[in-house]
Amino acid sequence: MQKSAEFESPILEVIQMRRSRRAYADKPVEQDKIQSLFEAARWAPSSVNEQPWLYLYATKDQPELLGKIFDALNDSNKVWAGNAPLLIVSLARKNFIRNDRPNESARYDLGAANAFLSLQAAHLGLNVHQIGGFHAAKAIENLNIPDYYEPVVIMAIGYPGDAANLPENLKLRELAPRERYVQQAFVMNQTF
Ligand SMILES: Cc1cc2nc3c(=O)[nH]c(=O)nc-3n(C[C@H](O)[C@H](O)[C@H](O)COP(=O)(O)O)c2cc1C
Repeated sequence: MQKSAEFESPILEVIQMRRSRRAYADKPVEQDKIQSLFEAARWAPSSVNEQPWLYLYATKDQPELLGKIFDALNDSNKVWAGNAPLLIVSLARKNFIRNDRPNESARYDLGAANAFLSLQAAHLGLNVHQIGGFHAAKAIENLNIPDYYEPVVIMAIGYPGDAANLPENLKLRELAPRERYVQQAFVMNQTF
């Protein structure tokens, strides 16, 4: 993997700025900014405009609810995500509302909404770290999630903090240069 090349048409600044940090400042996320994140998600595209996403969030002002979300995380994610002042569970509605048939695009659409939310967060100076490493059964139990929703990703959100406060192994990961495949590895302009 190599670093991205420089292009004459640069990518959006929010895309350049966004990254999944693990260090959080000891500062709450303002309520209007939380709403701004969900507003960005709201305008994401979705198959037949189904909008099959649901967000269940908790802040440090709600220790009981926050604890129920935190409790579902894998141990390796608990090490750092406990410092985030805001945790959001993102859920996909499995079936279409209109006909109750399975929505094969639900997770895809939720991912798009989460991407919109993440870029809005970058615009607001916030860090979003998506977490797939959690126990779905635990989240379902702790939060009484009904069967027609699937918890897909938990997001740890807050203002970026000092990486020096992280355990050594995570500090190194936090400060390591980011890597991506070059475009030739994933872009085609011919048949297979
Ligand atoms: C669906 C998904 C699940 C992820 N799960 C975890 C996780 O369990 N723990 C973690 O530390 N990071 C997790 N990440 C963050 C990725 O490791 C991170 O996005 C990737 O290394 C690229 O880094 P960047 O977001 O800073 O560009 C997840 C990201 C996504 C999109």
